[in-house]
Formats: sequence, C-alpha cells, structure tokens
Amino acid sequence: MTKALITLRVNGEAHTVAAEPHHTLLEVLREELGLTGTKHGCELGECGACTVLVDGVPVLSCLTLPQQIGMADVTTVEGLANGPELHPLQTAFAEEGAAQCGYCTPGMLLSAKALLDAHPRPTREQMAEAISGNLCRCTGYTSIYEAIEKAAARA
Ligand code: FES
Ligand code: FES
Repeated sequence: MTKALITLRVNGEAHTVAAEPHHTLLEVLREELGLTGTKHGCELGECGACTVLVDGVPVLSCLTLPQQIGMADVTTVEGLANGPELHPLQTAFAEEGAAQCGYCTPGMLLSAKALLDAHPRPTREQMAEAISGNLCRCTGYTSIYEAIEKAAARA
C-alpha cells in the first residue's frame, strides 16, 4: 500500500512521517518515530501496554489511527522526564519496585500521570480505577499503588 504523509505532535514536537494509512498510532510511534517505549502488547485493547496520553487523556494507541487525533498533543513515556530529571512517578516506581519486567510500566506511568493531573491526592479507589485498563503480571499492584502515593506526596 502507498504510504501517506502524516503529521503528529509528539512530546511537544511536530513530526511529519510517511506511514501506511492503516497503521495505528502505536505502529507509527514505534516504527516511524522510533519511540519504542510505548509497548506492543495484545493489539486488542485489553492489556493497556500501548497507553499514551492524547491531550492528557489515556488512549490505547493500538486502537487509534493517527488520522483520528490530528494535531492533538501525544505524550509517550519518552516525554515524561524533564531532560535528565525523571518524572516523580518514574522515580517512585523505581524506588518502590513498581516496575519489574517493565512491560506494563510505560502505559502504567501514563495512566498514573493522568490520574495525578486530575486528582493530586488520589484515593486507592481512584488509583484502582485509573489503572484498571493496565494489566501487570508481575507486581501484584500494591507496589504500584505505593509508588503513585509516593509521587503524589512529593508533588
Ligand atoms: S497493545 Fe493496546 S491494549 Fe494491548
Ligand atoms: S512489571 Fe511486568 S507486567 Fe508489570
């Protein structure tokens, strides 16, 4: 199929790339922009590994076409840190052992960021709801909740 030029705004910068028109946002981020922090999981909308933020809202990039979002602001895990300074959630996840194999972690961090942006002091219930679409096989979730609480307390 003929590739088409598309322009996306990712982590604060506009990028124009040639991509197959049927390729998802996940595929374009990983294959055309080299942003492999966004993970390729089920491709069925079930695991949350591919979560990115679109205008601050968690979105499953495996179910999203770039044409659907136009020039909305996409944030991937690569856009969380501020230069060499990690986002407080990234630091807390590392300290609390909330990232183990790490496959779910980029999506989890972005869902947690959206949560803290909306609710700076979330309850456990709000946390559970916010990450309910992000499956983790490793941590048992307690360390993830503790990391989110720690990041919230430091903000
Ligand atoms: S890869 Fe998108 S939800 Fe699993
Ligand atoms: S840390 Fe392994 S799936 Fe979550």
